[in-house]
Amino acid sequence: MVAGKISIIGAGEVGRNIAFLVVIKNLAEELVLVDIQKDLAKGLSLDLEDSRFFFSSNTKVLAVDNLKYTKSSNIVVVSAGRPRIPGMSREDLIKFNSEVVRDIARDLKKYAPNSIIIVVTNPVDLMTYLVLKTTGFSHKKVMGMGVSLDSARLANIITKKLPVNISNFNPLVLGAHGKNMLISELSSLYGFKLSNFLSKKELKEIKKTTINRGAEIVSFLKKGSARFAPAVAVFKLLEAIVLDKKELSLCSAYLKGEFSLRDVCLGVPVILGKEGIEKILEIPLSKEEITFLRKAQREFKKKKFF
Ligand code: 2OP
Repeated sequence: MVAGKISIIGAGEVGRNIAFLVVIKNLAEELVLVDIQKDLAKGLSLDLEDSRFFFSSNTKVLAVDNLKYTKSSNIVVVSAGRPRIPGMSREDLIKFNSEVVRDIARDLKKYAPNSIIIVVTNPVDLMTYLVLKTTGFSHKKVMGMGVSLDSARLANIITKKLPVNISNFNPLVLGAHGKNMLISELSSLYGFKLSNFLSKKELKEIKKTTINRGAEIVSFLKKGSARFAPAVAVFKLLEAIVLDKKELSLCSAYLKGEFSLRDVCLGVPVILGKEGIEKILEIPLSKEEITFLRKAQREFKKKKFF
């Protein structure tokens, strides 16, 4: 099954890698790659289409610099805006990126009112909220990619201490895609708590490395931020929607009392399918973890100036 039309706004490192995955996995009949630098989008689109033969993909790629071409998109990925530079927090991007994202959201309301939107632009929880409020879309149709990336990082980082097949881990990161991310005690190796295999010191180190991984990558790259793992994380959300997988996914969602959180977008477990966020799964978190999420909610509301 393929989507009719997926639009990716922002042909930066993350956007172009998402586009590459959509093309080689033949996930859409048409992929619209939008960037203010039309030549950049054009060059990338030609290269992307050249890769089709190797994967027998029929995804057509259209390069544009105008959001009117997102018309009738089934799914739109918002990846436009600035990435961090070394020393910056994701929240440091809020002023510049909220201007960019608000304009995009206004256009999507006009051109793609029936689309599902996946937000990538940082700070992603706040940008997801901004898109939701600006478009007025149902909360089922707007989500942010953040904690699924953090969860994948957690699994990878654990394997450095615990050399077990990475597919045996159930990593669970919730809350903010940022310093207030919650690395849940429910994360497990084959259903068994990680504390059965790792010391308190090791677990502390793993949590610190996971929280800091995004900034660590930026510090090495100097220009730009992570692109491969974020792109795959977005692709998995796209695939769950397009293939109506109804599988448990982790994404930034608008909360209306779940986990005793309200009027925020934070990372939670959801069931993703063709309708978007079909259900928010209120898994049994401990009192301490709920308290931690409430702290993330307070931080969110402090930063939310819009
Ligand atoms: C990261 O953590 C870009 O927020 C993304 O790398």
